Amino acid sequence: MLPHHCIKLNKQIQILHYDTIDSTNSEARRLYEQGERGPIWIVADEQKAGRGRLGRTWHSEPGNLYSTLLLPCAAPQSKLAQISFVAALAVHDVATTFIKNTPITLKWPNDCLIDGAKFCGILSEVLSPSQIALGIGMNIAHAPKDTLYAATHLKVTSVKAAHEVLSASLQNWLQIWNNGADFETIKFAWESKALNLGKKLSVDTGQAIRQGIFKGLSDDGAMILIQPDNTEITIHAGDVRVTPQTKENHTA
Ligand code: BTN
Repeated sequence: MLPHHCIKLNKQIQILHYDTIDSTNSEARRLYEQGERGPIWIVADEQKAGRGRLGRTWHSEPGNLYSTLLLPCAAPQSKLAQISFVAALAVHDVATTFIKNTPITLKWPNDCLIDGAKFCGILSEVLSPSQIALGIGMNIAHAPKDTLYAATHLKVTSVKAAHEVLSASLQNWLQIWNNGADFETIKFAWESKALNLGKKLSVDTGQAIRQGIFKGLSDDGAMILIQPDNTEITIHAGDVRVTPQTKENHTA
């Protein structure tokens, strides 16, 4: 699995490009284990074993973007989970660059939706206390069928153009995040684009379905939910379902 070419982009972030690979996140881990420390992008035209959140498969036929940034990261351990919100903001920038006059929202924890349909996935994996594999997949030419959720694609002609915008925007948001020193700005930006903030939704945590009003993000990126009895809970992993709004559950 050798990369067929290697170029530099933006602020000298190297790109290793593969025609086919199992998973760009797995390759980032292998490179890390061989001593690579990044920052370096691993980009593939297709993945044979693309991985999603919660142990799911990420269908990865040619035509879409499959990329992982192997990133040295000096943030404290407790703040590493924040990085996927940083990435979600960069993905949102990609969507707004190429798509006009269509609602683009962020869905907790880190999906970006075009008109309510998912077009990207983010899988951030901690390789060591100071190394992250930040995997980002974007549907460009096609979207998978038979998904649990509505899926769409960006419909830009060039995967490379989408990746260039992603890389530049990610570097910008990473700088703002400043290794977790300014999660407040990230949180504010993320919440301003969030689906159903201040409104009712349900979250399937795998153990239970929790319902409540989405209050916002906690400092570690968990969802703060106000339950019907007014108690607050924080949820660290799960799938959000948006509940149709009625007069009673609208807060804004
Ligand atoms: C999700 O479940 O929404 C996250 C999907 C993440 C997919 C990307 S594609 C590039 C990188 N390599 C992987 O195997 N997964 C991530």
